[in-house]
Amino acid sequence: MTLAPVLGPRSWWTATMPCTPAQAEAVAAELTALAFHGFATSSGDDGRASIELWHDRQSLTAAVQAVFARHRLTRPTLVQRSEAAVMADLLPGGHCRLAPGLWLDQEGDLIETPRRMVLRLPPSHAWGDGRHPTTRMLSAMILRDPPAGPTLDLGCGTGLLGVLAARLGAGPVTFSDIDPLAMTATKAACRANGVTGRVLRSDLLARVPGTYAVIIANLYADLVLELAASRRLARALPTGRLLVSGVSAGRWTEVDAALRALGFRRTARRRSGFWTAGEWRR
Ligand SMILES: C[S@@+](CC[C@H](N)C(=O)[O-])C[C@H]1O[C@@H](n2cnc3c(N)ncnc32)[C@H](O)[C@@H]1O
Repeated sequence: MTLAPVLGPRSWWTATMPCTPAQAEAVAAELTALAFHGFATSSGDDGRASIELWHDRQSLTAAVQAVFARHRLTRPTLVQRSEAAVMADLLPGGHCRLAPGLWLDQEGDLIETPRRMVLRLPPSHAWGDGRHPTTRMLSAMILRDPPAGPTLDLGCGTGLLGVLAARLGAGPVTFSDIDPLAMTATKAACRANGVTGRVLRSDLLARVPGTYAVIIANLYADLVLELAASRRLARALPTGRLLVSGVSAGRWTEVDAALRALGFRRTARRRSGFWTAGEWRR
């Protein structure tokens, strides 16, 4: 790949490269080993995958370029973006982009259009302001394949993932979190977005009754493993979809194995720098 000569000192480039799931996984591992985190991968069970890359001139070192060359990924579609546009996506401000066509509005003044869905996020100290890649990956997965039927947002934080599911037609939606701040924040987010939902305080599934068609869980690897080890997961999700994020790349195999042992098969995987997200079904 010969991108470096065309880059200006303050310009950023994004590139999307179609590839196979195996290429996506190998490239992600090699870029992470080089401490290059400006990429995201996405693969589905249809055998298609892609790598998205964003970088400035400094970060696209010869070693990083060699990774793409080694995997014969030499023809990315390049899009030059102004630094202001990149920052508008990455920084909170009043508005931040969660996924293509999906915006988060913390000031209440962004107008929704047919091509722009807007989630309102009242200020709070709960986890989940839309900036973290783990939230963004799950947002994109939810947007791409909206949950249908009873849905649980486990570890809801500000509730924005469950709110997104509800806005896209899932229902009823239950929100749960161990953090009391999340209760207040999620109720406020539901009100601000005109959705209804049951909001419960619970340590994982300990106090969450009912069964679900979809569980959304942006948790840490240890919590996902704890979830997998408890009988409650099978009761809460007898069949359906489990959308997990927040697993660091180094813990992915362990989490995947634990879920496969419960009869789940993985149907999608995303990676953004250090973080991975996946969808499992059974
Ligand atoms: C990574 S944040 C995700 C927040 C939000 N869903 C998002 O995607 O932006 C993880 C959330 O899990 C919650 N959490 C941590 N331990 C938990 C537990 N044992 N049971 C339930 N929730 C827990 C935290 O309070 C936090 O809100």
